Amino acid sequence: MQPQLKSKVRCADREVGEVSKVIMDPLSHEVSHLVVSMNGAGERQVPMGAVQAVAEDLVQLRSSSSEILGLPLFKRDDYVTLHEVEIPGLERHIHVTPGEVLVPLPELERNVKRRTFFANLTHVVALFIGLPLAFPVLKFLMKPMYAPLDNKWLKIGNIGKVKTENSGTQFEYKRKIKEAYMPEAEIEKNVWLVKATPAVLEKVYQGKDMEFLDTDGKAIWTNKKDIPYLAFSGKCPHLGCAYKWRKHKILGQVFLCPCHLSIYDASGQVLDGPAPRPLDLLPIQVSASGEVQIIDMEFKAGTKSQTRIV
Ligand code: FES
Repeated sequence: MQPQLKSKVRCADREVGEVSKVIMDPLSHEVSHLVVSMNGAGERQVPMGAVQAVAEDLVQLRSSSSEILGLPLFKRDDYVTLHEVEIPGLERHIHVTPGEVLVPLPELERNVKRRTFFANLTHVVALFIGLPLAFPVLKFLMKPMYAPLDNKWLKIGNIGKVKTENSGTQFEYKRKIKEAYMPEAEIEKNVWLVKATPAVLEKVYQGKDMEFLDTDGKAIWTNKKDIPYLAFSGKCPHLGCAYKWRKHKILGQVFLCPCHLSIYDASGQVLDGPAPRPLDLLPIQVSASGEVQIIDMEFKAGTKSQTRIV
């Protein structure tokens, strides 16, 4: 039975609120999370794994109320409703009414607010109508599309944040982007750092330094095989979702992507799921004072080989 919207939500110790939204996994067509309105204390996104039982108008959770209150606040902007996207066959699997049924907003769209996107789209259409007159302007605006890839080093924090070996630590940073006709925007990004033991380094580098090349084949940087710090792009190589460092019942601590459940070990190797390649390693350097810098690179998702796109 699927949890119903407006059902009461009870934790192991007390009732905490009601189901205000449900989140569907667009691939498995299953409910992946509930959004619980916490009686005036905001909304929390609760994974279905925390649900013990579902009755007609009650959802029983395994966790205590303090554990649920400790979850991060639900971010509505990271999702779209089923009316805003068309996912074949998904509607047939939903038995929850009425209210908001959500699916995750694809990662690429998160970086551009939807209203801004459509406003800009209108401008583009207008430009195409006046193309003969607008050509010189258009040529100027399109220039950034053909700009070389950006190989600037970005400071992301201090290595002191990494406390244990062979475990993932997330570093967040901001980056300015300029996409063709779009206004310049600042986006939030993240990478995962691992302080690797020699065995994990060996799995990553297989005894050889890793050289990063520009599109013209020029060397940009070399990660030395015996420097213990690894930086992985924050995007899952399957379809670009954000993944986390999580405890798996059987595999122990792993990188887990919630979108389609790809699982990676601390060296970034795929342990399970649909991911076509290991996590994408980035150029990294750590100064004597512990300052970490990376080159922010992105690679095409869904392919076995790495093709750099950013
Ligand atoms: S995006 Fe599909 S498993 Fe990560």
